[in-house]
Amino acid sequence: MGQHPAIPKTDDDLTPDDHIQAIANTAGFHFGTIEQGGTSLYPSLAQRVTDPDVLRIVLSIGPTEAMHFQTWSDKAGNARPLTDPKDSSQVFPDLNSPPFGGEEFQTNLIMPEPTIFLSRKLPACSIVRPTATKGAAMGAANFLTAMGLFIGQSSAFFELLRDLAEDADDAKRGHG
Ligand SMILES: [Fe+2]
Repeated sequence: MGQHPAIPKTDDDLTPDDHIQAIANTAGFHFGTIEQGGTSLYPSLAQRVTDPDVLRIVLSIGPTEAMHFQTWSDKAGNARPLTDPKDSSQVFPDLNSPPFGGEEFQTNLIMPEPTIFLSRKLPACSIVRPTATKGAAMGAANFLTAMGLFIGQSSAFFELLRDLAEDADDAKRGHG
């Protein structure tokens, strides 16, 4: 909960052990979350691509994001439970104990699982991530902004980011 560094800012951050471990844990969850987004983003945007070279690039990046997602989910599942000694609001619970743990929260569960998030009308089926294409680029820009990735960037940066996302979301498959 809240904002916490995912990289050490000064040498003071190197001690005590649980403090630098809290920073490493934050980075571990950050990576998994980014890759989760990437695993949606590339299949979503591929559906709007016309140029074969761009399609090849998007289709080539997408699977690597899924591999990153899988790996970082597994790594995050091993995050050592702790409270940051320099920031008591930074708590990593034991993910293998109640209310976590059990089959649904198994921390090394890295394969696609049956889910209802696509449609509750469908029988449970394994889906990696949603791939709806409407607003996918702006959704990614908003998600990355909300998770604090761009803290400190200029207003010109955010303007360019929004312009790029709008252009990507306006793209239509067809002969162009
Ligand atoms: Fe990635």
